[in-house]
Amino acid sequence: MTILQANSITKIYRSSQSVAHRALDDFSLSIEKGEFVGVMGPSGSGKTTLLNILATIDQPTTGEVLVEGKNLSRLSKKELALFRRRKLGFVFQDFNLLDTLTIGENIILPLTLDKIPVKEMEQRLQTVAATLGIEGILDKRTYEVSGGQQQRAAIARAIIHEPLLIFADEPTGNLDSKSSKDVMETLTALHQEKNVSIMMVTHDPFAASYCERIIFIKDGKWFTEIRKGHNRQAFFQDILDMLSLLGGNVNDISTVRPS
Ligand SMILES: Nc1ncnc2c1ncn2[C@@H]1O[C@H](COP(=O)(O)OP(=O)(O)OP(=O)(O)O)[C@@H](O)[C@H]1O
Ligand SMILES: [Mg+2]
Repeated sequence: MTILQANSITKIYRSSQSVAHRALDDFSLSIEKGEFVGVMGPSGSGKTTLLNILATIDQPTTGEVLVEGKNLSRLSKKELALFRRRKLGFVFQDFNLLDTLTIGENIILPLTLDKIPVKEMEQRLQTVAATLGIEGILDKRTYEVSGGQQQRAAIARAIIHEPLLIFADEPTGNLDSKSSKDVMETLTALHQEKNVSIMMVTHDPFAASYCERIIFIKDGKWFTEIRKGHNRQAFFQDILDMLSLLGGNVNDISTVRPS
């Protein structure tokens, strides 16, 4: 079942000097229910633009996005906000946790906006914390825990309302290799156990090797895509090969780590 479909998305940014920049050019893709999709491409190729449009944070100049067959451009601002809050989960590179709240309070924040009863919030918090192995840090503040723990808390926050689709933009971008591995294993387990769909933008071939399919983007255009076979190590090598074919700034490709 197709959960998300983008048809011929074009995004043109107009700067003050009236120079138009085509950040996405006739880009189409679809994501199946329960699929774990990666998006890779050189810096400036349009990955974040694409993610923001699919996640309804930004609008395309032309083209349409359908989620579960519904055209999002037909929704009002209020309906869109509600849709985002109920159906989507977000994970960012810099965790986006509030340091005035405890880890636990951060995780239940999306539920408090929806006025879920306290008892139910508490139950759901315990369940997601157990899933992510962060039961022990719920009363701590963000600055008292590691980056990997913060990212797992951010993932807990992204899934506590059981979203249809998780969008992750460079979720391992600020993590060391051990924490990156933990976070990718966590996302993989979530995707396998809960059948949640994930779209992840990453520069990191190691993180990308956890995806089932990688879409490569270049100059705002669909370049190619590759699928994982049985073996993550082999997929990792395929990803490296594709990145070198793709070109771009070599500094974009983070340190190659043995898996
Ligand atoms: N709000 C904006 N106004 C004007 N131009 C923009 C805006 N946002 C992005 N761009 C331009 O659009 C292009 C695509 O940007 P985008 O952020 O999508 O790239 P990216 O692939 O996510 O890059 P990175 O890997 O560095 O995060 C870039 O050339 C960027 O400068
Ligand atoms: Mg980006």
